[in-house]
Amino acid sequence: MTTPATPLGRSLRVALLGCGTVGSQVARILLADADDLSSRAGARLDLIGVAVRTLDAERDVDLPDGLLTLDAESLVEQADIVIELMGGIEPAKSLILRAINHSAAVVSGNKALLAQDGPELYEQADAAGVQLSYEAAVAGAVPILRPIRDSLSGDRITRVLGIVNGTTNYILDQMDSTGAQFADALTAAQDLGYAEADPTADVEGHDAAAKAAILASLSFHTRFALEDVSCEGITSVTADDIAAAAEDGYVIKLLAIAELLSDASGANGIGVRVHPTLLPRSHPLAAVRGAFNAVFVEAENAGELMFYGQGAGGTPTASAVLGDVVSAARRMVLGGPGRTETTTGHVPALGIDAVRTSYCIALQVVDEPGVLARIAQIFAANRVSIETMRQRIRQGVGDGDPDGSTAAELRIVTHRATEAALAATVRQVAELDVITAVSSVLRVEGI
Ligand code: NDP
Ligand code: HSE
Repeated sequence: MTTPATPLGRSLRVALLGCGTVGSQVARILLADADDLSSRAGARLDLIGVAVRTLDAERDVDLPDGLLTLDAESLVEQADIVIELMGGIEPAKSLILRAINHSAAVVSGNKALLAQDGPELYEQADAAGVQLSYEAAVAGAVPILRPIRDSLSGDRITRVLGIVNGTTNYILDQMDSTGAQFADALTAAQDLGYAEADPTADVEGHDAAAKAAILASLSFHTRFALEDVSCEGITSVTADDIAAAAEDGYVIKLLAIAELLSDASGANGIGVRVHPTLLPRSHPLAAVRGAFNAVFVEAENAGELMFYGQGAGGTPTASAVLGDVVSAARRMVLGGPGRTETTTGHVPALGIDAVRTSYCIALQVVDEPGVLARIAQIFAANRVSIETMRQRIRQGVGDGDPDGSTAAELRIVTHRATEAALAATVRQVAELDVITAVSSVLRVEGI
């Protein structure tokens, strides 16, 4: 529904950098819903130009003649609000800095840039008193950054667990629901347009790691960058891992985790990590199917919260971008400096060694007397406590052995232990002559 235009005293000039998947939808909605958006913003939002690389490329939006330009630098200098949807580091970063220097508010969805150079950009924006907003950078349409930054600013967040990459969630969900191998599920994701032709950033966890750095920074009021995130992708997750997890009542998800931890001396710090994780099927994040995203937040007073929705796609992501645009416009109309985030936390980033979590270790073993005892002894010596252990005889393997031994798979789920203790345990177990392979080691959350 379009509301009648209200007389608005002021016009704000909006420059759009990029007219691809997201930019084209931002332009379409800005033009189609101009009256609604302007009346909510309290000022007319005039789209003054759209910077692209190629003027004659096909676009998913009908733009009025003369809006497209190759001269992004001049466009930025004429704008009150700059929307950066080009992606990549340069020239996006220089253009954002140029916008800030011209006192324009900036809205961006560029998680790669923000995770790498966010601290520099936020500082420049703070110094210039301009608004830099980036709701679309994490989980697309899902409103998660503003709730963390504003709604939960009266609480203390202790942990954030997120499914923040739709491509990998789709792949793991396909493997879980159809038994597909990783390579086939990846091809399906590419056919549906979820995964890029080069899917490295998604499947190696880099895209989720960039989002984890942003989530951690806002949740713990301290600036974290990509290098603070320990990252492992999903390329080594096999159909066997998924099937075995399902038998035990788990699902495997690529999680971005940011949590309050204590180091060996008891001092507080923040652990930020991305890795494939076993989750019990009863956990709310286990129900997130297909390419959907969700972020599960644990806060001291609010308790558990979950935010769910579409993490990508032109129109859903445009919703988050335009929310930031209206909010930046309102702030300009009302006056007062822009605000990015608070950085009063001053908590250090702790490496993966400080993390205490549960693990699921799959071992291929010779099934003969004393094997379990030898394995259990190593776990005990490293103070890694076993929660459950399941043995499955592998039919047809080891039959006919002169000693009468057969082969078996052991799946051991531990209580919480440190990465260091777990690594030592796995290394020592692997050296036992009765172990033929350590076939997987996966972290477990939510138990
Ligand atoms: P696209 O690749 O679809 O579009 C990029 C646009 O930027 C194109 O219009 C391109 O111009 C333009 N562009 C790129 N480089 C330059 C340059 N040097 N000078 C001028 N114009 C340039 O990207 P998306 O729309 O998918 O993504 C945009 C941003 O939003 C990225 O940061 C991405 O991470 C983020 N994002 C994307 C989501 C999605 O679902 N796609 C979800 C959440 C965030 P031309 O068309 O002429 O080539
Ligand atoms: N490649 C990302 C995903 C797009 O699969 O979720 C949104 O950032």
